Amino acid sequence: MPVFRNLTKVAKQALLSTPVCGCQPLTVAVRTISFSPRQVTSDASFHSVSFSETDHPKVLITGGLGQLGVGLAKLLRKRFGKNNVILSDIRKPPNNVFHSGPFIYSDILDYKNLREIVVNNRITWLVHYSALLSAVGEANVALARSVNITGLHNILDIAAEHGLRLFVPSTIGAFGPSSPRNPTPDVCVQRPRTIYGVSKVHAELMGEYYHHRYGLDFRCLRYPGIISADSMPGGGTTDYAVQIFHDAIKTGKFECNLRPDSRLPMMYIDDCLRATLEVLEAPADTLSMRTYNINAMSFTPEELAQELRKQMPELEVTYNIDPVRQAIADSWPMDFDDSNARNDWGWKHDYDLPELVQTMLNYLGVETCMAHAN
Ligand SMILES: NC(=O)c1ccc[n+]([C@@H]2O[C@H](COP(=O)([O-])OP(=O)(O)OC[C@H]3O[C@@H](n4cnc5c(N)ncnc54)[C@H](O)[C@@H]3O)[C@@H](O)[C@H]2O)c1
Repeated sequence: MPVFRNLTKVAKQALLSTPVCGCQPLTVAVRTISFSPRQVTSDASFHSVSFSETDHPKVLITGGLGQLGVGLAKLLRKRFGKNNVILSDIRKPPNNVFHSGPFIYSDILDYKNLREIVVNNRITWLVHYSALLSAVGEANVALARSVNITGLHNILDIAAEHGLRLFVPSTIGAFGPSSPRNPTPDVCVQRPRTIYGVSKVHAELMGEYYHHRYGLDFRCLRYPGIISADSMPGGGTTDYAVQIFHDAIKTGKFECNLRPDSRLPMMYIDDCLRATLEVLEAPADTLSMRTYNINAMSFTPEELAQELRKQMPELEVTYNIDPVRQAIADSWPMDFDDSNARNDWGWKHDYDLPELVQTMLNYLGVETCMAHAN
């Protein structure tokens, strides 16, 4: 039981470093069956199912029906086997997703249900994708606070209690107007102005706190805006960079809700999902930090339109600025310094802007032709 041993070791270290007068025995935050939060000593027996007990990790993905989850499940299933990766969400899965591998209903606000899923399926890795993104979060702050903060607390407690490896994505949105913007390093001022950003800084800090305090194997990447062809974005500020491809192919026109000079870090989905798998598999001793920036490219709407016009010279782009999204974009990093990820665990992106545009057009062009043929 290496995870349990690890927790015990951390407990001993922490106890040794506690001042004689210092009153506070090391405890691990877990909850009782009646859900009331409480602290249990580190000697409590955990259901710690370690990776080494099985041939492969047993992975649960929360919020798996969004832009990123289905693609990640596909990648992880290829590596670890179809039945070792469970997708979950509160939405009804489309047929193709339902038939492609295990799917289960899970509301991250239901602590008991989450724990049952983890225990009954002997989960060892948890990828926590459930969230309300930036623009959607500003439209419903109370719900965003509940899903992004209360939901995360449930996830952290369950991961600590059951000795899981926990991946939680963060975002360029975890930075704010007082952060250095070009480039933004891993460690700097973080004073975001959206509930999304605040909740992600909270997730980074809580995950790192649980790592140091309880030995939780917490891993976090700050994703840039993610561009994908076969899944639609869920209400973020970088959504325009996906929508432009769909509109360009369908109508030859696109109305952009950000200013033409709004520069933001971006990444093609394949790079993002591969980075996630790589950091999940990275040996712990290669990780000098628990939260890393990752980046691939950085462009403005105008630059993206220019690249598209190389293949679609007739493309017309107009601008009708959404003040909420523009204010968010103006407070976010323009470029992301991901040198620590590159040095520590060998992060390297494959897609720059020209490859991204070519790949998106190839994929969507084929899709459109097939749709017309049917
Ligand atoms: N897509 C991006 O560009 C991007 C960039 C940076 C970070 N991220 C992060 O990556 C993760 C996945 O992003 P995404 O784009 O797939 O998000 P998305 O908005 O497309 O999907 C989020 C999913 O969470 C689910 N969800 C909402 N409330 C829930 C609840 N109570 N219980 C369980 N599930 C619930 C939704 O049904 C949805 O399917 C998020 O944490 C997001 O913050 C995404």
